[in-house]
Amino acid sequence: MRHLIALTCCFLLSAVVHANKVDDLTYANYDDVKVSHLYLDLKVDFDNKALKGFAELDLQWQDTATTQVILDTRDLIIDRVLAKSADDKWYPIKFQLASRDDVMGSKLTITPAFQAAKIRVYYQSTDKASGLQWLTPAQTAGKKLPYMFSQNQAIHARSWIPIQDTPSIRMTYDARIHTDEKLLAVMSANNEPTTERDGDYFFTMPQAIPPYLIAIAVGDLEFKAMSDITGVYAEPSVLDSAVAEFNDTQAMIDATEKLFGPYRWGRYDLLILPPSFPFGGMENPRLSFITPTVIAGDKSLVNLIAHELAHSWSGNLVTNESWRDLWLNEGFTSYVENRIMEEVFGRQRALMEQALDAQNLRSLVTKLPANDTVLYVDLQGRDPDAAFSSVPYTKGQLFLVYLEEKLGRDVFDNFIKNYFNEHAFESIGTNAFYKYFTDNLLSKHSDILNKADIEQWIFAQGLPPFTPSPTSPVFDIIDNQIEQLKLGKITPSQLNTSQWTVHQWLHFINNLPPNLNVKVMSQLDAQFNLTISSNNEIAHAWYLLALRSGYEAIYDELKDYLIAIGRRKFIVPLYKQLAMSSKGKEWAKNVYKIARPGYHPLAQGTIDEIFEK
Ligand code: BES
Ligand code: ZN
Repeated sequence: MRHLIALTCCFLLSAVVHANKVDDLTYANYDDVKVSHLYLDLKVDFDNKALKGFAELDLQWQDTATTQVILDTRDLIIDRVLAKSADDKWYPIKFQLASRDDVMGSKLTITPAFQAAKIRVYYQSTDKASGLQWLTPAQTAGKKLPYMFSQNQAIHARSWIPIQDTPSIRMTYDARIHTDEKLLAVMSANNEPTTERDGDYFFTMPQAIPPYLIAIAVGDLEFKAMSDITGVYAEPSVLDSAVAEFNDTQAMIDATEKLFGPYRWGRYDLLILPPSFPFGGMENPRLSFITPTVIAGDKSLVNLIAHELAHSWSGNLVTNESWRDLWLNEGFTSYVENRIMEEVFGRQRALMEQALDAQNLRSLVTKLPANDTVLYVDLQGRDPDAAFSSVPYTKGQLFLVYLEEKLGRDVFDNFIKNYFNEHAFESIGTNAFYKYFTDNLLSKHSDILNKADIEQWIFAQGLPPFTPSPTSPVFDIIDNQIEQLKLGKITPSQLNTSQWTVHQWLHFINNLPPNLNVKVMSQLDAQFNLTISSNNEIAHAWYLLALRSGYEAIYDELKDYLIAIGRRKFIVPLYKQLAMSSKGKEWAKNVYKIARPGYHPLAQGTIDEIFEK
C-alpha cells in the first residue's frame, strides 16, 4: 500500500514537472508522446558513408488530444513514414522536414490522423552526420578494413537516427545491422563474446536508456576476455596492449559495487577506438568506448576506465534530464571515478589526480565567461558542445568532496548509494536533485551544512571560497625542485627525478613558469626526452609549455602528434595556443590541412572555428 501511494505521488509530481518541457535542445513533443522502444534495421554502407534502413518507434501516448509526432533529425534523408494504428495496420503518413538549424538540426513532423502505436521511418544518414566517423582502411591500425563508430552525446543521435533526442526520455532497443562479413558490429547492448563474423548482427538492449547512449561501431574487431563479465574489443594489433593496460577493470567494478551498490548492466566491455576518437571515453552502456591514447604501458591513465565505468551509476542509471544538468552526470562520475582509483590504486594516486584536476580548474575558471562557471549552467540556446568545459566535472567533483569532508564518508556514501537506487533508470534535473538533497541531507544535517553555501555551489559563478584544495605531499617535493630551478640553484641535470611518477611529471610540467628560458627547456628535453614522451598526457603538457615559452625543437614531433591523434582535449588547446601568434597560426594551418581529413566531425567543427576567428 505504501508503495502504491508513493507511486501515485510520483506520477502526479512528474505530470506537473513535465507540463513544461525541460529540455529545449529537442524539437520532440515528448510531453505528449514518448518513444518507449526503438527497433533499428540498418545497412552499413562504407562506400557512401551512410547508414540505410528504418527505425521503428513504439509510442506511449500521454493524456493529450494531439496525434502529431515530432522527432529530431540532422542531415538525414527521409524516404517515407508509416504508422501503425490500433487495428494493427500500417498506413503511409505525410511528414514534413523543416529547414536545418545549426544547433538543433531539422524538425521532423509526422501527422497521422490517429495516435499511432508505432511509427516506422525509412531513412538514410549522410556523410555529414555529426555523430558518425567513417575511417578508410588506411586510417585504421590494421590498414586493411574500414572502421566506423558513433558518438551521440550530447545531441548527435539525431544525425543517424530519427528520434526524440533528449536525455529526459528512456527507451529499450533492438537492432539488426547488416555489414560486410569480414567486419564485426558491436553496440551498447548485449554483445556476445562468441559472435561469429557473418555480416548480419542482432542486438537487444532490454534496459531503458536515453538516446545519447545508443551506440554502434563496426570494424575489424576482435575480443579478448579479462574476466567473466569484462573484456576488450579492439583491432587485432591493439588488443593485447589494451588488455594488459585495462586488466584492473573487474577490480574497479568490485570496488564500485562495494561503495555504491550493484552493477546493473550485465557485461561490461571496453571498445578501443581509433586515435581519432574525439573524446577520452564515452560511457555507452555495457560497452564503454575508449581512446587508445590512454594505453601508456604503465596504467598511468586508467582513471579514464574508472570514469567511464562510474557512469554505469551516475549518468546511465541516474541520468541528467537536460544538458544544463550535465554536472549531475559528470561531477558525480568524476567523484566516483576518484573513489574507485583510491580503492584500486591507493589514496596517494587518487589525491594526485584530484590535485591535478583542481589546479587545472582553478586556472580555467579565470579564463571562462563567468556564466559558464555555474554548475547549473544556462546554455542560452548554444550548442552544448560549444559550452563544454571541465567545470561540470571538476567543480562538481569538488562540491562532492566538500560534502564528504563535512559529513564524513559513512553518511555521504550512504546518501549517494540511496540517490542512485531511488532514481535508478530515471532522469533528474538540478532542481529535483536539490530538493532530494534538501530532504535527505540538508534538513538532517543543518548543524553541519548551510543552505546558502550549497546554493552557492550549485547556482553561483566561480569557485566558492570554501572550495577544497586537494594537494599531495609528493607534489610538494616537485614544487620544491621547481623553486630551486627558478632561482637557478640547480640545473635540469641536477633534478632528482628517478622516482617520479607520471602524475608528478605532469605536476612538474604544469607548474614550470610559462616564460622559462629556451636554454632551460632544451636542457630539460636533453635530459628527459620530453618531446618524444610516449605518454600522451606528458607530451601534451610539454608541447603546450614549449609553445608558450617559444621552445621550437618540438615542432616535428608536435606535427606527428596532431596528425595521429584526434582527441579534442589534447589537440584543441594546442591549436589554440599555436593560433595566438601569426607564425604559429600559419604552421598550424598547414598541419591542420593534413590532419583534418582524419579528424572526427566534432573535432573538425571545433578546430575550424579556431581558424575562422
Ligand atoms: N560522457 C563523457 C564524454 C562527453 C561529455 C561527450 C559531454 C559529449 C559531451 C565521458 O564520460 C567523459 O567525460 N570523458 C572524459 C574522461 C575524463 C574526464 C577521464 C574525456 O573524454 O576526456
Ligand atoms: Zn564522463
